[in-house]
Amino acid sequence: MKILGIESSCDETAAAVVENGQRLISNVVNSQIDIHSAFGGVVPEVAARSHLEVVLPVIDQAVKEAYLACHSGFGSESGDIQDDKILEAAWGEIDAIACTTMPGLIGSLLIGSLTARTLALLKNKPFYPIHHVEAHVYANFLKNESADANCLRPQDRILRLGSCGENSEKEADDNSREILKQVQNDKMRFPMLALIVSGGHSQIVLFRDHGDYELIGQTQDDAVGEAFDKVAKILGLPYPGGPSVSKCAESGDPQKYHFPKAKMAGKYDFSFSGLKTAVLRAVQSECDKDHTFPSSGLADLLNDTQRRDFAASFQRIAIETLVDKVVAAFNEFAPKSVVVAGGVAANQELRRQLTERLPIAPHFPAPEFCTDNAAMVATLGYYVAQNVAPTDPRDVEITPSISMTKTAWNLK
Ligand code: KG4
Ligand code: ZN
Repeated sequence: MKILGIESSCDETAAAVVENGQRLISNVVNSQIDIHSAFGGVVPEVAARSHLEVVLPVIDQAVKEAYLACHSGFGSESGDIQDDKILEAAWGEIDAIACTTMPGLIGSLLIGSLTARTLALLKNKPFYPIHHVEAHVYANFLKNESADANCLRPQDRILRLGSCGENSEKEADDNSREILKQVQNDKMRFPMLALIVSGGHSQIVLFRDHGDYELIGQTQDDAVGEAFDKVAKILGLPYPGGPSVSKCAESGDPQKYHFPKAKMAGKYDFSFSGLKTAVLRAVQSECDKDHTFPSSGLADLLNDTQRRDFAASFQRIAIETLVDKVVAAFNEFAPKSVVVAGGVAANQELRRQLTERLPIAPHFPAPEFCTDNAAMVATLGYYVAQNVAPTDPRDVEITPSISMTKTAWNLK
C-alpha cells in the first residue's frame, strides 16, 4: 500500500510516498528556514503564504518521483511522454492520502489540509488526518540505511526501488523483505517508550500498541527545542537555535557554568523556562550587567570562549534533564523499545547520553527525519489505515492545539 503523506504544520512544506509504512519511495521537503531566519523565528503569516506558493509543486514532485523510482526504465524509454501523463500514471499508484491536520500553526495547517482534502476528492483516494507529534514517533519506523547499521544497505535500496512489479527480481525482493522484517522486529516492539522533543513539544509517551498510548509526562512551560532557540538568541547564534547551539557546544566546556535542574511535581514532567532564565542571568553576570540589561544586547559582549562554554553547559543540563526522566520511566515501565522523535532527536549529546545510560539501545530517526517531513506522516498513515476507517475529506477540521494525551484513533 502506497501512501502519499503531506505535511505543512509549521515551516516545512513536505510530501512523501511511503510503501507499507516503511519503504521510503520519494521524499520532498521545502524548508522555509532561509525566509524566517531574517526574523529569528517563524512568522505564521509568512509561513502560510510560502506553503501556498509551493504546496502543489512539492506534492507533484513527490508523486512523480515515486512513480519514476518504481519504473526505472520509464524516463529513458519515454522521454517524449509529457509530464502530465506521468503525473496521471503516478497518481494511479497512490492508494491513500495522509495529511497533518493537528496540531500546528493555523494558517499553515489550513494550506496543507485543504490541498490534501481537495486532492483526495478529485483523485478519489481515502483520506487519513494525522497528528503531527504522533507522526514524529513513526519516523522511527522508516527504513533508512543511514538510520542504523542493521538497516538496508544502499544496494538493497536500489534493488528495492527498481524492482516494483518485476517477477524476475522476486528472489532478491523476498530477501530484502526478510531484512526489512528483521529490522522492524529489532526496532519497534511494544510497549514502546517515546521521548518526543521538538520546538513545540517535550513529552514522554508510553505506546502499548499502535494507536494505544498514554502521555506520562510533559513540559509545564517551554519545549526543549524552544529553550535551545531562546538560548541561541541570547548567545547571538543563528536560527534555528538547536543545531547552532549544539555545534557551538562541541568545543565548549560543559562543566564551566552550573545551571539548576527543575524539580517538578509530576515524576516525568519537565520545565525549561527556568533554565533559559538561569542562562540569561549567568550571561548578564559574566558581562558585568544586572538583570535589567536587555538580552538582545548581550551577544556582542561575549567572546567566543564564553559563548562556547555557555552553549555546552546549557546543553549538558537540558539534555541531562530529558535523559534522567527517560531512564526513570524506563525503570518503571520496562518497555521493550525506546524511541526518540522530533527536531531535538538530531542532537548528538542526547544520542550519546541516552545510549550510555539506558540498558537497551534507543532508536533515533536518521537526522533528516528528525525535523518536520512528510515521510513520517505517510508512515503513520499506513498504520492508521490498517486500523481506522478513512475520514470523508469534506468533514475534516484542523485542530491547531491538541496534545497527545490518550489515543485519538477511532478504531474500526
Ligand atoms: O520537530 P521540529 O522540526 O519542529 C517542531 O515540530 O517543532 O523541531 C524543531 C526544533 C527547533 O526548536 C530546533 O532548534 C530543534 O528542533 N533542533 C535541535 C537540533 N536540531 C533541531 N535542538 C537541539 N539540537 C539539535 N541538533
Ligand atoms: Zn515537528
